[in-house]
Amino acid sequence: MNIIDLKIESYAAAFASPQSEILQQIEKETLANHSDSQMLSGHVQGLFLSMMSQMIKPMNVLEIGSFTGFSAICLASGLQKGGQVHTIELREKDAQISEDNFIKAGLEKQIQLHRGNALDIISLLQENREWDLVFIDADKVSYIEYYELTLPKLKKGGFILADNVLFHGQVVAQPIKGKNAIAIDAFNHHVANDKKVEQVIVTLRDGLMLIRKL
Ligand SMILES: C[S@@+](CC[C@H](N)C(=O)[O-])C[C@H]1O[C@@H](n2cnc3c(N)ncnc32)[C@H](O)[C@@H]1O
Repeated sequence: MNIIDLKIESYAAAFASPQSEILQQIEKETLANHSDSQMLSGHVQGLFLSMMSQMIKPMNVLEIGSFTGFSAICLASGLQKGGQVHTIELREKDAQISEDNFIKAGLEKQIQLHRGNALDIISLLQENREWDLVFIDADKVSYIEYYELTLPKLKKGGFILADNVLFHGQVVAQPIKGKNAIAIDAFNHHVANDKKVEQVIVTLRDGLMLIRKL
């Protein structure tokens, strides 16, 4: 199910600033060669992530789910001098594509790729680090775990962005079917009931939740 009318999406995309050559190249290659190409954030959401990063001016960013590296490059655009994006990818093939893309973008110093399961890696990264911005975009059934793991290490006033929170519109079905849609709906309720944060769902693409730690 398309949540947003396709004509409206195209119209909005036509008025989005053009993306950099490297992002155009990653998008083109991912769409042409990857069997899961629909996972890519893409032009409009990519610009949104870039603008969030430029507004926050983060020192430390965590991304859970690198895929082909597109969104990590967007998230790096507002980094402070000396700042870093740490991005985690489970699938070896995607991790390698991401790493190659970070080198092509000249961002290999600003973006550190971590290969493996985010549930094992996050705690290690957080031993002596706090986050200004976290982007949750991996397996939907673990969203609550990712949120609970990272929130204590998110700076006060810091942001968590969670992707796919409308899950192709399936969250409004009655009853909700499928483990991913059920998990996402549980995540949305979990955040809404947490007094430590305020949150809003932006109906961009597949739904992006902006969460701010109070
Ligand atoms: C939706 S894609 C990420 C898209 C990317 N952030 C973007 O916007 O272009 C989700 C990625 O998370 C990865 N992933 C799934 N489970 C994971 C886990 N437990 N740890 C790390 N990565 C995981 C998948 O292999 C996949 O590449």
